[in-house]
Amino acid sequence: MTDETLRKTLETHGQSSVLRFWSSLDDTQKAKLKSQLEDIDFQQLKALISGQDKKQDFAAMAAAAQSPPSVRADGSGASWTLAEAVACGERALSSGEVGAIIVAGGQGTRLGFDQPKGMFPIGPVSNRTLFQFFADRLVAVGKKYGVVIPLYVMTSEATDSETREYFQANDYLGLDPNQVRIFKQGTMPAVDAKTGELLLAQPDSLALSPDGHGGTVRALQRNGCLDDCDARGVKYLAYIQVDNPLANLCDPALIGHHLMAESELTTQVVRKRYPTERVGNVVLVNGDVQIIEYSDLPDEAAEATDENGELKLWAGNIAVHVIDVDFLKRVSQSVDALPFHRASKKVPYVNDAGEWVEPTEPNAVKFERFIFDLLPQAKNAFVVESLPSEAFAPVKNAEGAATDTASLARQAVSDLYRGWFESAGIAVPEEVLVEINPRFALTQSELSAKVDPDLTIEANVYLDE
Ligand code: UTP
Repeated sequence: MTDETLRKTLETHGQSSVLRFWSSLDDTQKAKLKSQLEDIDFQQLKALISGQDKKQDFAAMAAAAQSPPSVRADGSGASWTLAEAVACGERALSSGEVGAIIVAGGQGTRLGFDQPKGMFPIGPVSNRTLFQFFADRLVAVGKKYGVVIPLYVMTSEATDSETREYFQANDYLGLDPNQVRIFKQGTMPAVDAKTGELLLAQPDSLALSPDGHGGTVRALQRNGCLDDCDARGVKYLAYIQVDNPLANLCDPALIGHHLMAESELTTQVVRKRYPTERVGNVVLVNGDVQIIEYSDLPDEAAEATDENGELKLWAGNIAVHVIDVDFLKRVSQSVDALPFHRASKKVPYVNDAGEWVEPTEPNAVKFERFIFDLLPQAKNAFVVESLPSEAFAPVKNAEGAATDTASLARQAVSDLYRGWFESAGIAVPEEVLVEINPRFALTQSELSAKVDPDLTIEANVYLDE
């Protein structure tokens, strides 16, 4: 694109102000800004800014919403048993058809940790990082089923280089380097909330932010990960977010339910504890499984109950999925497969006078895609209920917050393993923290088979290989 064409394009779309420092930039700086601008679909951005993109009528959706096709934690709801699902998932694992994807991009603004979230120490006794938690699990699952499970790790601009260095400096956390592929998600420009104009982070650089975990689809495709899946014979990807240490990466039961349901996208949920809990609601509307965010769900719909007095919209999204590789290939062909969502955020920027401004109030609109928006497009999308104590301990907020802090997550991890010890007949004193590396035992029954039933626990315990 010539400078003149770029100028015209910006003019047409009301974005000329982004070139206000152009005459003071050297050639390298001009090239940098130009290449960022060339990446933007201005037509699409204009529609997003003016709100002309497709709007959802959430009240109508919520009124029509029903419980999605699902298997419940007690095994009800499906025409197959849990044992059948596990056997089916184990077959897929043993035949090398399962890969793992961990999304570890974004910016982690709420946590207030100055490294990538994946490097956050979460082991209640071991202090293992979130990345190490999942690497240990993958090693254990791979060993159990006699396979090497490929791991795709999605990073963002903010997390990419540190994540790569961390894996390299730590022997790939016990994984084979050929097993791990780290790839970066895309970006979207942030715009001024009042004027809709592109914000500059530097005179030669746009204020760019990660394009949301929905960016996974495009990033997997662009970085050759879907071809890599083909080359390795991987047909299903077990997807988790890096900030949930209880996520059972490559859980045979979840994979098995996905296969038994002949689903292209299966999502694990927990039963909401109260109607307005701040989780996405997985629902069925007009035959499509989809998510209504808590912020979009009217109280009346949130509080509606069924004939048993239980919440009608009970399924809370925990962002653990199994996705068919062929489905990802199909949807990655259409650029607009996933809609953008707006978020009002504080974004530092360079003002007209060239001064750096750090806003104290939200000043900008960011655009993000969400992976769960794939649900309505998936054939036989299916929902699997799990217990929060076994599957969900998000690490989102800095200490002091009422929910989703690291200390609550550490306690949840210890509580899970306390239950395992107790089932093995070993008492754990109230104040003691316990932790088990999956390389020692992946399941409660593996622990029971391995641990000395006469073990006395008096202080914190970490069972490693
Ligand atoms: P969150 O929505 O909690 O975002 O991500 P975040 O960036 O981690 O944290 P905040 O909102 O700024 O405090 C949930 C999961 O999705 C990944 C994150 O790494 C986290 O594991 N994610 C999020 C991405 O990979 N890319 C994104 O653009 C956003």
